[in-house]
Amino acid sequence: MALLRAAAGRMRARALGAAAEPMFELGDRCRQYSSYPAAESTAATRPKVTLTDIRKMYRKKEPISVLTAHDYPSALMADRAGVDITLVGDSLAMVALGYEDTNQLSLDEMLYHCRAVQRGNKSAFLVGDMPFGTYETSVRDAIASSVRLIGEGRMEAVKLEGGREMSETIRAITRAGIPVLGHIGLTPQRQASLGGFRVQGKTVKSATELLDNAYALQDAGVFGMVIEAVPEEVARIVTERISVPTIGIGAGAGCSGQVLVQLDMLGNFDRFTPKFLKKYENNLERITAGIRTYVGEVKAGTFPAAEHTYTVAETQLAAIKQALAEIK
Ligand code: KIV
Repeated sequence: MALLRAAAGRMRARALGAAAEPMFELGDRCRQYSSYPAAESTAATRPKVTLTDIRKMYRKKEPISVLTAHDYPSALMADRAGVDITLVGDSLAMVALGYEDTNQLSLDEMLYHCRAVQRGNKSAFLVGDMPFGTYETSVRDAIASSVRLIGEGRMEAVKLEGGREMSETIRAITRAGIPVLGHIGLTPQRQASLGGFRVQGKTVKSATELLDNAYALQDAGVFGMVIEAVPEEVARIVTERISVPTIGIGAGAGCSGQVLVQLDMLGNFDRFTPKFLKKYENNLERITAGIRTYVGEVKAGTFPAAEHTYTVAETQLAAIKQALAEIK
């Protein structure tokens, strides 16, 4: 609306014979707010990351960087920073939409956010999470949901939670030509049946189950698997035993790659902080302070200042005032 109003204003100004002042040069806003010129050039020169590249990284033992993004700006920043895989995780539900848990997220909500992420992304490989209830009901439902994530959500692969019991589903989705990223260990969509957000693989039974699930997922055709909240040594053994990449979150340094939730690692979310989380920023404090300053300046009348204000030549202003005074 503001842009339309500005365009209409410029047309009126032109009709009145005045030189229209551009609101801003394309790119100026970016320069004004961005302190990451180097990251921008990384994005400009980086080729598209494909599954072949991910497999190459795995073979060369180059750690794979994965980060979530839930909207256009977070996708843009992850991509500019050089992330290999951007995951539209269903953590979206809690950290960006304020739901109590991930199981309240619908497929339509996920698709809406996937499309925004895709618009912000140029190079990273895009994976979309299958929301709870969209793939467990039947193989047919799982294929239909993954087809929507690829077709409507513009993702390149899907992620789903679960172990051996998901083998048939994973096989069917990959047979439909859709790459699948598995997710084992702590699977937040099933946290109620796991007794809460608990570290997995800490007993012989649980560690054996984890390895069995990893083998099952590999056999079903996943291109990789997330391992969440598992002791480092156990995740390392699983990583050494299988031949597809493991992406750890709270699973130590022995995995083939790492994933974090962007809004967690930037300090935008403080409802709880898991042990594995490293906060690289404290956005809640920093951004709230910035907004508080803005509110203070508006109240004090010190914003906008002269440098944020458009001007008009004195002679033109006199003509404008006269014309406006004549309008009753
Ligand atoms: O939903 C999510 O963001 C995830 C990652 C934490 C792996 O599943």
